[in-house]
Amino acid sequence: MDYSMAKTVSDKKITRRSAMAMLASGAALAPLGMGLKGAFAQTPEAVNMVIQQATYKITDAATTDLISTRPDGPPPVIRIKQGQPFTARVTNTLPDYTTMHWHGIRLENAMDGVPYLTQFPFGQNETFEYSFTPMDAGTYWYHPHCLTMNQMAKGLTGVLIIEEKTDPGFDSDVVINLRDFRLRPNGEWLDLWTARGAARTGTFGTIITTNWETDPVYDALTGGLVRIRLAATDTTRIHKPYILGADGVVIATDGHPLREAVDWPTAASPHLLSPGQRIDMAIRMPNIEGAYVDIMSDVPGDPRRLARVRAVGTPVGRTLNELAPLHPNDVPEPDLESARLEEFVFGWTPEGGEQQNGFCGTLGYSFWSINRTPWPGDAADPNTPGAGPLAQFTLGESVVLRLRNESPNDHPIHLHGLVFRPILSNKRTLPSNWTDTVLLTEGEIMDVALVADNPGDWAFHCHIIEHQKTGLAGFIRVVM
Ligand code: C2O
Ligand code: CU
Repeated sequence: MDYSMAKTVSDKKITRRSAMAMLASGAALAPLGMGLKGAFAQTPEAVNMVIQQATYKITDAATTDLISTRPDGPPPVIRIKQGQPFTARVTNTLPDYTTMHWHGIRLENAMDGVPYLTQFPFGQNETFEYSFTPMDAGTYWYHPHCLTMNQMAKGLTGVLIIEEKTDPGFDSDVVINLRDFRLRPNGEWLDLWTARGAARTGTFGTIITTNWETDPVYDALTGGLVRIRLAATDTTRIHKPYILGADGVVIATDGHPLREAVDWPTAASPHLLSPGQRIDMAIRMPNIEGAYVDIMSDVPGDPRRLARVRAVGTPVGRTLNELAPLHPNDVPEPDLESARLEEFVFGWTPEGGEQQNGFCGTLGYSFWSINRTPWPGDAADPNTPGAGPLAQFTLGESVVLRLRNESPNDHPIHLHGLVFRPILSNKRTLPSNWTDTVLLTEGEIMDVALVADNPGDWAFHCHIIEHQKTGLAGFIRVVM
């Protein structure tokens, strides 16, 4: 990768448009992987990622056993280019097994990072090389898919930005990795999950963070155009973001430019952003130097500021209508007339069920199920009952998935390798935008449509990790 693109955001420099488009205005994110130049002189679009223990002060005292890809802060924002080959050499220094998954990216099945299903998990001091050419531009993220309840909860979630082939024309880009930590004020961990939480809404963190900080401030040009990218990478929390102090428009959800307009979120009607989801917003900074724009979240009973953007420099006087709509990603349009209907029921598990413990951990309980069968675990032999595919599609086939939530809880349902769009809900009017993760609310029945254009075994699960790890998971097979 081009190192000028993996800029640290601690250099809060204001640069002009062209350079700013490549600047990640997040927290103090370090340049990616040391010493890449030697190792990858021939393949510049490559990064070394070393999964390791990290120390950082998230509360008032440092926590020493966070998990990141650098020793002293959150996993950095990775920026790569649409249509250009990319390689991530992921080295695991932890004593536990892991895999890395590229959330929302349409790629070859073998690069999807799902243990047992697409690769064998890799252990201490082992390296796995992931290579893919991202066809879609937008805001995506990366996280492990093995021992997820531990590794994600301890910090291993990062934002992956696929830059458009043509510069969309922003003055700056603010990247917000939104996640909680379950820490005591003294920096020690609380239990990362609880059985009580796993059986209900999940176990909430005690500290809401933006790029591992509480209420950080980022700078942007006075009167400039800013792209704000929010990625909900928490294991549990559904955020309700909105913006105070600036006009703006939603330009993409879950990576993809909009097919249908999404309402500008306000305090009265915030946007629902559930674990796994992203939203990209274009805002225009106030014309007054020193003015602040607040990025808020309507946390139940407690509106919360996630971050602030401060106007700096002399006004540049840009306007939102200077922005051309983002170029749509090339997603095949499902044929709704001929589409086959496949139903998936999300609910409680009828009777427990054994969790197969491989190298990727089990929480030891089965609370949830898809089609009344709890997923028997990452390491389950695919020939055991409940461990085979939930459905099988033929390559190129149009399918409508009817997602039926029979539980009193909300579930962000995520499908790997394919993108789909909602077409109908029994509860609300939904914009029909391309996504990889939809929030299925309590009692909701939602039809989503897709073309099964990518062969392989694609994980299909709730992104509340406690639900995923206690049964609400499975996979869909697309065959030639
Ligand atoms: Cu974001 Cu199966 O994962
Ligand atoms: Cu769930």
